[in-house]
Amino acid sequence: MPDITRSAPGKVILCGEHSVVYGYPAIAVPVSGLRARATISAAPSGSGLRIVAADLNETVQVKTALPTHPLAAIARGVLAHLALPEPDATLTLRSEVPIAAGLGSGTTVSVAVARALAAHLGQELDTETVSALAYEVEKIHHGTPSGIDNTVVAYERPVYFVKGQPPTPFTIHTPFHLLIANSGIPSATRHTVAAVRQRWEANRATYEAYFKRMGDIADAAREHIEAGQIKHLAPLLDENHALLRDIGVSLPVLDQLVSAAREAGAWGAKLTGGGGGGNVIALVPPAHIETVTAALRQAGATQVWHTEVESH
Ligand code: PMV
Repeated sequence: MPDITRSAPGKVILCGEHSVVYGYPAIAVPVSGLRARATISAAPSGSGLRIVAADLNETVQVKTALPTHPLAAIARGVLAHLALPEPDATLTLRSEVPIAAGLGSGTTVSVAVARALAAHLGQELDTETVSALAYEVEKIHHGTPSGIDNTVVAYERPVYFVKGQPPTPFTIHTPFHLLIANSGIPSATRHTVAAVRQRWEANRATYEAYFKRMGDIADAAREHIEAGQIKHLAPLLDENHALLRDIGVSLPVLDQLVSAAREAGAWGAKLTGGGGGGNVIALVPPAHIETVTAALRQAGATQVWHTEVESH
């Protein structure tokens, strides 16, 4: 049987992270240039299913791994869904998506593994199923995921997302450019989501007001994206960053990256994903991509990626 490779993109949340966990809308877009790839090949009889996380130098034997091991969990989820026994196979995983950086690395890996394993078994999973299987693994990564990561990664298209509702694809009238800058500080989404929950529990009225405003920003952003009014997104991104700072998930280094991007000509900028480290995104006019990239590097970004959000 020939080797089979399947891949999945990273993602960025344009606006509405954290508030999305509390039922408010958010917008996320795939980052198709940053991917995880899973290649699966048959192994000798009796080997069972092994997953080799090549970047982490880690090998997972699915049969004996702990129930909470995310790579074993996605493989088991796929096998249970298809009601098929574990094959004798080796699945090798490589990912360009930085870990614990707010770019959805865990989900990206889950989706690539699910697709490769199903294909090896002669099955193609529909996108909704892939998304649902990845969601179950998200629960291991952090207890109360909204579902936005698995949705945008599995569908690989921009989504307007409300927890518990089917994803709403929407029109990107005019393409736009984002720079994604890594602070180099790892941060587990599990921790920031739990910390925000504690603060919300202690101060519900204030936090609900923050979350509601974030949701309104997502709604307004969607309207501007659908109308092709890209520059109108800028103040929304800036305000969303200020709100994320208010709920305690920014860091001085993230604030500095955001300011550096704006000073170098970005229209707007904010942290993206769980925060507490990880990445910022900057909305940039095409003519300023190079200067803003240089400014982000100068301000301490360890990596900067450019992605174009294409028309749909
Ligand atoms: O840090 P990431 O890439 O996993 O994004 C998390 C987004 C949150 O809204 C903070 C959590 C969630 O489940 O939606």
